[in-house]
Amino acid sequence: MERLIILDFGSQYTQLIARRIRELHVFCEIHPFTHAPNLVLTDDIRGIILSGSPCSVREEGAPNPDLGHVLGRVPVLGVCYGAQLLAQQGGGEVLPATIREYGRARLAALDDASPLMHGLHTGSQVWMSHGDTIQTLSAGYAVIASTPEVAVAAFQVEGQETYGIQFHPEVTHSTEGKRLLQNFVVDICRCEQSWTPDHFVDSAVLALQHTIGPTDQVILGLSGGVDSSVAALLLHRAIGPRLHGIFVDNGLLRQDEFATVLKAYEGLGLNVTGVNAAPEFYAALAGLSDPEAKRKAIGRTFIEVFDREAQKVTGAAWLAQGTIYPDVIESVSVKGPAVTIKSHHNVGGLPEKMHLKVVEPLRMLFKDEVREVGAALGLPGEILNRHPFPGPGLGIRILGDITPEKVDLLQRADGVFINLLKEHGLYSQVWQAGAMLLPVQSVGVMGDERTYERVVALRAVTSIDGMTADWAHLPYEFLAEVSNKIINQVRGINRVVYDISSKPPATIEWE
Ligand code: XMP
Repeated sequence: MERLIILDFGSQYTQLIARRIRELHVFCEIHPFTHAPNLVLTDDIRGIILSGSPCSVREEGAPNPDLGHVLGRVPVLGVCYGAQLLAQQGGGEVLPATIREYGRARLAALDDASPLMHGLHTGSQVWMSHGDTIQTLSAGYAVIASTPEVAVAAFQVEGQETYGIQFHPEVTHSTEGKRLLQNFVVDICRCEQSWTPDHFVDSAVLALQHTIGPTDQVILGLSGGVDSSVAALLLHRAIGPRLHGIFVDNGLLRQDEFATVLKAYEGLGLNVTGVNAAPEFYAALAGLSDPEAKRKAIGRTFIEVFDREAQKVTGAAWLAQGTIYPDVIESVSVKGPAVTIKSHHNVGGLPEKMHLKVVEPLRMLFKDEVREVGAALGLPGEILNRHPFPGPGLGIRILGDITPEKVDLLQRADGVFINLLKEHGLYSQVWQAGAMLLPVQSVGVMGDERTYERVVALRAVTSIDGMTADWAHLPYEFLAEVSNKIINQVRGINRVVYDISSKPPATIEWE
C-alpha cells in the first residue's frame, strides 16, 4: 500500500500533519526520527516528511540523523525544524532569529514554477513558529518563497525532489497549507489518493483473516464506545461467530446503558456476552476515595471478571483491542518524558495475564477515521456518535467514595442532562458531557422544608481530541431547564452548578 513516512522530531503538530495527509486519502505513518538510519526505501514509500521539533538544530545533542540514503531517492519535505536540518546538513547556516517569528505571516514572494508552490498566492497567510532562521543556503539550494521577515521561507534542492518550508502548512491558520501538502503528496510524491474507509475495511478484513488462524477464537472486550464497537464489526466481518465479545457491567455505566448497548450489539449480529458484575466492582471500591486507588481497583476487578469470562471460550487464541493510532505512536520525547497526569490505561496487563496474542485492527486509525470506518460498516448513529466515556465510568465522576446509592443518584442526574442535550439538538455540538456528583451537601428549601442535600456539577466541553478543551457555551435557558428537571426529579440533589473551566489548566473529568 502506498504510503508517506513522517519522521517525528517531537513537534506538537506532527499528528496534525498525518491527519492532513490522510484527509487527502493517502496513508501515512509516524516514526520517531531515530528510525531514520534504518529506513529501507521500499517501493510503497512514496515520500518522507520531516516534522518540526521543540529543539534547535544549533543545540548540542539535537536530533541530527543521517538522511544521505534517502535524499534524492524519494521526495522529502522538511517542515520547520525539518527544513532547518536539511539546510544545515547541506552546508547552509541556521542562526537564532533576530525578530521573533511566531504566528501569522504572509508570503511576499513565491516561485509558482516550483511544483511545491504551484497554485499558492502571494499574500497567502502562513503560520510561523520558530526561534531559529535559515540565514544562508548552500549552492544548489533555491529559495522558492519568502515573507517580509523570513528570506528563506521555502527552498528546493536543485535536481532533487527535496524541499524545506519554514512555516506550518498543517495548521488551519496557513490558509493555503492544504494546497501545498496536496502539491507535495499528489504531484511530487505521485500518490494515488485511494485510501478510503471502504479501502481500509477491505484490506483490514483480508489482513485479519490472514493473521488469525482458520479455527482460532478471538475475545474482545466491548465497552459501548466507538473504538471497541468498530473493532468488533471489523472482526465480525473477518471471522464471524469466532469473535466472542464480552461486555461487562461494572455498575458504573450510564443510566440504562448496559441494556441498550447490548441490544444494539445483538441487532448487529455480534456474538456478545453481557456480564453483570456490578456487585463485585462495588465491593472492590468500598471505602476507597483516592481517584488513582479507585482507577486501580476498577482496572483490577475488570481484569478478574474478564479473565473469568474469557476462560469459558474454548480455543481462544487472541485478545482483540480497540487501540487507536494516537495511543500507539511512539512519542519522541526529545525534551524529557511527559508527566503522567492520570493513569488512563486502566486495563494494561490484560494480554500478559491471559497468555493471548494481541490483535489491534484499528491501531493505524485516528478517531475521526474510526468513525468513518464505523459508518462504512453500518454502525448505528447511536453508538457511532457517542461521546467519549472513561473506562472507570461514573467511578471517577463520583468524587470521593462510591456507593450504589450515589451511583443511582448520579445516573439519574446524568440521564436528565444527556437526554435534554439530545432533545435540544445539542448533543452532537459538544465533544463530551456528563454530570459529576460532588462530595458536599448544601442547604436548600423545598416547599416549606429546609433541605440539606447533594450538589451536582454539569460538565460539557468542546474539543478536537480531548487534549485541550473549552467549556461549552450552552444556552442559559437550556441550563435552567436541566437544573430544574434534575432538582425536581432526582430526590437527594438540591443544587446544580455548571463547570466553566477550560483544559488546561482544568481537566475534563473532575478526578
Ligand atoms: P481528562 O480528564 O484527562 O480527560 O481531561 C481526557 C479524556 O480522557 C478520558 N479519561 C479517561 N479515560 N480512563 C479512560 O479510559 C481514565 O481513567 C480516564 N480519565 C479521563 C476523559 O473522559 C476524556 O475523554
